[in-house]
Amino acid sequence: MSNAPQLPGYPFVAYQSNTLHVEAVPLGRLAQDHGTPLFVYSKAAMLSALAAYERGFSGRNAQICYAMKANSSLGVLQVFAQAGCGFDIVSGGELDRVIAAGGDAAKVIFSGVGKTRAEMAQALKAGIGCFNVESEAELDVLSSVALGLSLTAPVSIRVNPNVDPKTHPYISTGLKGNKFGVAHEDALRIYRHAASLKGLRVVGIDCHIGSQITTIDPYLDAMDRVLELVTSIEAAGIPIAHIDFGGGLGIDYNHDTPPAADALWQQLLAKIDAHGFGDKKLMIEPGRSLVGNAGVCVSEVLYLKPGEQKNFCIIDAAMNDLPRPAMYQAFHSIVPVSITDKPSGTYDVVGPVCESGDWIGHDRELNAVAGEYLAVLSAGAYCMSMASNYNTRGRAAEVLVDGDKAHLIRQRETAQDQMRGEQLA
Ligand code: LLP
Repeated sequence: MSNAPQLPGYPFVAYQSNTLHVEAVPLGRLAQDHGTPLFVYSKAAMLSALAAYERGFSGRNAQICYAMKANSSLGVLQVFAQAGCGFDIVSGGELDRVIAAGGDAAKVIFSGVGKTRAEMAQALKAGIGCFNVESEAELDVLSSVALGLSLTAPVSIRVNPNVDPKTHPYISTGLKGNKFGVAHEDALRIYRHAASLKGLRVVGIDCHIGSQITTIDPYLDAMDRVLELVTSIEAAGIPIAHIDFGGGLGIDYNHDTPPAADALWQQLLAKIDAHGFGDKKLMIEPGRSLVGNAGVCVSEVLYLKPGEQKNFCIIDAAMNDLPRPAMYQAFHSIVPVSITDKPSGTYDVVGPVCESGDWIGHDRELNAVAGEYLAVLSAGAYCMSMASNYNTRGRAAEVLVDGDKAHLIRQRETAQDQMRGEQLA
């Protein structure tokens, strides 16, 4: 690998002889073979991110449930299923994907504030591991659905520790005023209610304070709050078999330096042990930190458009493929697939969608050339899974790289694919 600055995703995403590679595969070749925009993922990067959590939990009874909303493509789920992961799901559709990818329903936990009765029944019949219940009303409905099927639903209640994760407001979830979880001060009463319902079996407690968290303190504070609650719930005679601490660990987008998963867990486990809960089963729901830096989106430069105030670099990927800049003013690094000595300029990198909000990066210094490829980095999480068909744009193709092999895991979507199910009146 060259001396070029380390990119997000390094060493799995790196220049070799001035050409950007994912593992041993040059991205220019993949773009030629499959067209653009094209998402490319490194399997080794995913497994390496997973290994950091596994090191953190070594010697413990722990279950890692990949929060598949981050990237729910079957070929990605397959990597985690084969590695023995469980899955954190938020819909019946996600459960169907877990099963289709060969995942184990018994290792599935079902989060979300708005589970329907049909989704509850589907998950109960599949035999999922736990429902993470987010309100008192949901407890009652889940109990009645379970009784209707002569089953018992394993539940944990998501408690809201009221901790500020110091991230974008749209992705912080553990504060008062968020729609998620039940208030810390109501938790004991709601646990008593859960324990009284015939269709439920209380198995755990869970919390998730937000996403793209890059400091340890919010986690430590949240853990203190959760452990206090476990003590009082158990004192009330309700055993808590597992503690699920959610996801949220950040990745590198723009020289971000989140704690390593194993270092973070060393500190969290010390707290758990100090409370005497070291024997409890531990669960986590990481999404972004398992896949985010493993993926890039390769796009072709269509036009360079000099302007009076700004120069635009118009690429063939857009907000429908990469929604995070438009939604969260998110920063993704953008780099050329081939380093050349062509002169560079400063550009707003934008897509073809008819919205001023369709930008991928502002004021980027690039040696952009029409017809050549750029790569948008840190694009493995919350890009393809949030992609839309706005402007009747087909969703991109996806490739999973494993060493020097490239597997097409999703074909480019056609207009015919998009119109399936529609009919004229
Ligand atoms: N568990 C629960 C209950 C969650 O709500 C989430 C994410 C996760 C786990 C996984 O969090 P992660 O480890 O990925 O941070 N679309 C936004 C992120 C939304 C996160 C939603 N919940 C983005 O692109 O930044």
